[in-house]
Amino acid sequence: MESLLWKEIQEQPEIIRQLIAAEHDHVLRLGRELRGKNCRFIYLAARGTSDNAARYGQYLFGGINRLPVALSAPSLFTAYQTPPRLEGALVLGISQSGQSPDIVEVLGEARRQGAPTVAITNDGDSPLARAAEHVLLLGAGRELSVAATKTYTATLALIAMLSLALDDRLRPESLLPVVPWMETALKSEPQAQAAAERMADSSRAVVLGRGYHYCTAHEIALKIKELSGVEAEPYSTADFKHGPIAMAEGGLPVILVSYGTTFRREMEVLADLVRSQGARVLPLADELPGMQPADSWIPLPPGEPEWLTPIAAILPGQLLAFHLTRARGLDPDRPRHIRKVTLTH
Ligand code: F6R
Repeated sequence: MESLLWKEIQEQPEIIRQLIAAEHDHVLRLGRELRGKNCRFIYLAARGTSDNAARYGQYLFGGINRLPVALSAPSLFTAYQTPPRLEGALVLGISQSGQSPDIVEVLGEARRQGAPTVAITNDGDSPLARAAEHVLLLGAGRELSVAATKTYTATLALIAMLSLALDDRLRPESLLPVVPWMETALKSEPQAQAAAERMADSSRAVVLGRGYHYCTAHEIALKIKELSGVEAEPYSTADFKHGPIAMAEGGLPVILVSYGTTFRREMEVLADLVRSQGARVLPLADELPGMQPADSWIPLPPGEPEWLTPIAAILPGQLLAFHLTRARGLDPDRPRHIRKVTLTH
């Protein structure tokens, strides 16, 4: 398949395998050092795909470390010059390029205030890396595609390792099960392509996920929007029921991300409901009872624990966005109107 993006999607299992081995000792040491700082909350600053990875951190640091987590509002640091007080925070800046001045400024201010700062980036010489006290490198190799894929999964893996290390639970094998799951997830490409073809006639879609897969829903929606131009809106299934469900009719494609048992029943009920309203349900699921033969089914490898699954579950979503883009006659390697690095202030 002649595509940079497709190639980078395929590289992901190997990148994660290498990252887990290469960064284990470093993250373990960092976790030990940060534990001594007794941070009371986590403050995350990021944009775009990196911000979707931060959403994963919101659930992981909350669920595993039981810490409150805030996603930063960078304009408070830049345009308004009224930065919040960060005493007691561990501040993480996430950016594959490490370039965006607003994210760099959050880390710079956090450091001036004396908060521990960590940059998660693919470029160790970037302004973000220089601004932070500690740097975790993605080691994903240069990402040539405009759309971020391999740096997203590498960021999720580093966040998971850091979260475990902060709780003294990181072991060399902690994340390893995710690598074969990723390899299996890549095999769902024919289903992803079929789902893409089934929704290619629609210029709108919604992507629903909840809990650890709230980030997956956001990231799939972003990939679909920036590559295919389809207006794909992400929602938590809970938020969706509080109003937006009213628009789920007339064949609207509803991509349902359901992985793990926590929300399986809720997803099943919601799938039936929106289908009865006239929406098209496209599950990206490990198992969702009651699927109809007409539903596209994108199986994901089953596995425990649920918090690890977002690292593999995004892969069929990336493939869906890739094939949808081609089905709509566009080039996934040349998304319109955007560049690889966006500088915001
Ligand atoms: C998505 C994408 C953008 C970037 C965003 C942040 O595929 O490429 O949304 O994620 O511009 O970029 P970094 O991570 O370099 O700060």
